[in-house]
Amino acid sequence: MSHKIGRNDPCFCGSGKKYKVCHGPIDDMIEGARLKGHLVPSHDMLKTEEQLQGIRESSRINIAVLDYVESHIGAGVTTEEIDTWVYDITTGMGGIPAPLNYDGYPKSVCVSINEVVCHGIPSPDVVLQDGDIVNVDVSTVYKGFFSDSSRMFCIGNVSPEKKKLVEVAKECMMLGLEQVKPGNFLGDMAAVISQHAHENGYTVVREIGGHAIGLEFHEDPFVSYVAPKGTEMLMVPGMVFTIEPMINMGGYEISVDDEDGWTVTTDDGLPSAQWEITVAVTKTGYEILTY
Ligand code: MF3
Ligand code: CO
Repeated sequence: MSHKIGRNDPCFCGSGKKYKVCHGPIDDMIEGARLKGHLVPSHDMLKTEEQLQGIRESSRINIAVLDYVESHIGAGVTTEEIDTWVYDITTGMGGIPAPLNYDGYPKSVCVSINEVVCHGIPSPDVVLQDGDIVNVDVSTVYKGFFSDSSRMFCIGNVSPEKKKLVEVAKECMMLGLEQVKPGNFLGDMAAVISQHAHENGYTVVREIGGHAIGLEFHEDPFVSYVAPKGTEMLMVPGMVFTIEPMINMGGYEISVDDEDGWTVTTDDGLPSAQWEITVAVTKTGYEILTY
């Protein structure tokens, strides 16, 4: 047995507000888009205020870890040392690094240098060199709530070409962010990201993208950065997902290392750059949770 929620009944989300002033209008927007044939989120993809609070607390650790990395990274540092910093700071603040043992991943953080696109595994044998561009991708579990963000670092004297790639990758993420508001589509974000990358002569990685996050590390939907405007899922308040386009200086083709099963590199050996934030869709736009 089931019955329709009355407009004056308490909302299903537990806010204590009447349905008609809480998720009523949101459901109307979802139903309108669904009838037009759009992909729409299920209710369990919409985080409650309580869950958002948990994700914010997890995010606070994630940000602190990246701030520490930012102030200590430099030429001569091994990627294994970065892994140790991430583990020590995360656990010191009561969290667990989400990558550790995730699908068999052996370390606490991903460190991806130059032509490594993502999922670079820290090693005592890999020493950061002058001229490298490096992505450090940090993810945290705290009291069951997940957060995820990454930043690029330029080590010493980086060539103007690589510096520009790093800057444009950040611009792509920020332009994508501007598209985050209820009623827009994930494809609107993808379209501006692809356009900005292409205008600068770069390409966007297709097979790996962003994801919803919060109660698990990687939740549905998958977030593409190569989709056209008006496609992919409707954005609705309460959705939490990452914006993390991988921008390649050369072609978009990538491969995974057969030996370790993780390290992703560009097929042409040209560099790749990526910044990542986690955002929540709010009633009027977005809230940045991690950066
Ligand atoms: N942090 C990555 C992301 O942005 C995922 C890394 S999976 C791992 O989604 F196992 F390699 F950590
Ligand atoms: Co992510």
